[in-house]
This record gives sequence, C-alpha cells and structure tokens, in this order.
Amino acid sequence: MINKIAPSILAADYANFATELQRIDATGAEYVHIDIMDGQFVPNISFGADVVASMRKHSKLVFDCHLMVVNPERYVEAFAQAGADIMTIHVEATQHIHGALQKIKAAGMKAGVVINPGTPVAALAPVLSLADQILIMTVNPGFGGQAFIPEALDKVKTVAAWRQEGNYRYDIEVDGGLDNHTIKACLEAGANIFVTGSYLFKASDLTAQVQTLRDALDD
Ligand code: DX5
Ligand code: ZN
Repeated sequence: MINKIAPSILAADYANFATELQRIDATGAEYVHIDIMDGQFVPNISFGADVVASMRKHSKLVFDCHLMVVNPERYVEAFAQAGADIMTIHVEATQHIHGALQKIKAAGMKAGVVINPGTPVAALAPVLSLADQILIMTVNPGFGGQAFIPEALDKVKTVAAWRQEGNYRYDIEVDGGLDNHTIKACLEAGANIFVTGSYLFKASDLTAQVQTLRDALDD
C-alpha cells in the first residue's frame, strides 16, 4: 500500500481555512483530514458540510472526512455535494453501519469505517468488503493533542491480517497522537494513512514537519 499523510484541519486556524489549505497543499501531503463533530457523539463541535463545501473551492487535495456524528447516514448527500472524496463513519454512531456504507458508495464517495479505542475490532468484520478505508482510532475521538493509545496497534495488525487473508483492498488509517515516533509503530503494524494534527501544526514550517514524518516512515 502507498503511504499517505493526512494533515488534520482540526488543528489549523479556523478563521483562515483558505490559507491553511494552501499551506497543507504546499507540504506535498496527499489528503486533508476533516473532522466533523456534532457535540453529541463527541463532546466537541467543529463544522459541517457547508464549511467543507467552502473549503473545496480552495483545495484539490483528497478530502478525507471523518464524521464523529450520531446517525451519519443523514448527511451522505450533503457531504457528497460538498465535494468530500472519502466519508468515514463510526460503527458506534449508527444501528445500520452496513447500509450506511452502501449509501456512501452509491453517492460516489469512498466509504470509510472507524472504531473507537473501546470498540472490539470484531465490529468491523461484517463490513470488510464494503470498506475502502478502515480507520483505527489511536485516541478517543473529540479533541486533538491527546496521547497515543498503543493498544490500538493490535487492531491495526488484525485488520491488516484480515486484508491479506481475504484479499480485501481497504487502506488502513490511524488517527490521534501521531508524531515521528508513534507513526513508525503504526506503519509496522500495517497502517498506510497517517493523520497528523497537533504534531504538524505546532511547527511553523509545515513542509519540514511533514518531512520528519516521511523520514520516520522511511527509517
Ligand atoms: C480526534 C480527531 C483527530 C485529531 C488528531 O477526534 O479525529 O483527527 O485531529 O489530532 P492529533 O494529531 O493532535 O492527535
Ligand atoms: Zn479524525
């Protein structure tokens, strides 16, 4: 699988999305990770599909939308129209994860499925053939800047093994607490898409900071 870096816009300056998207673009990162939070599935509130539609005018990068939202199937059309490329939804947030993933694909987006640190990896087993991307949370969702949860690595290993055994094609993404050390452990466990929020944006030179992550992956 090809390694991809996904800067999280959650850690950017919300009053300057256009500039922040240009800064992300200049790093050579492949994705922009966009965290949608509804104040119910997670305590925090971020922004919705209309903001994503506005961002779309300022970036050609892949929009990797991570919905931390109750019943995310309600927003499939809105995100498709906003220009989302990948829509990733939590198994914990809907009673109909299978149908919701089908709906995402039918709307022309890539379908991602995600589990919280407290959710057994077995919850993903029924939807492996539908998933274009599996996201293993490496922090509890809701906020940037939290410490990496190493126990999540076993789940990454499990979904990587399932992919090999079952000839599935999904990417494996990790999100939360990634830096130039933890990213390597995620790679070794089998992940290939790496979300970076606070580690990236704490630097003034985003391009150099992305390079430290790529160097860690190549080490
Ligand atoms: C957390 C979000 C993450 C967050 C990661 O709920 O899903 O995408 O932006 O931020 P860091 O890299 O700071 O842990
Ligand atoms: Zn996220």
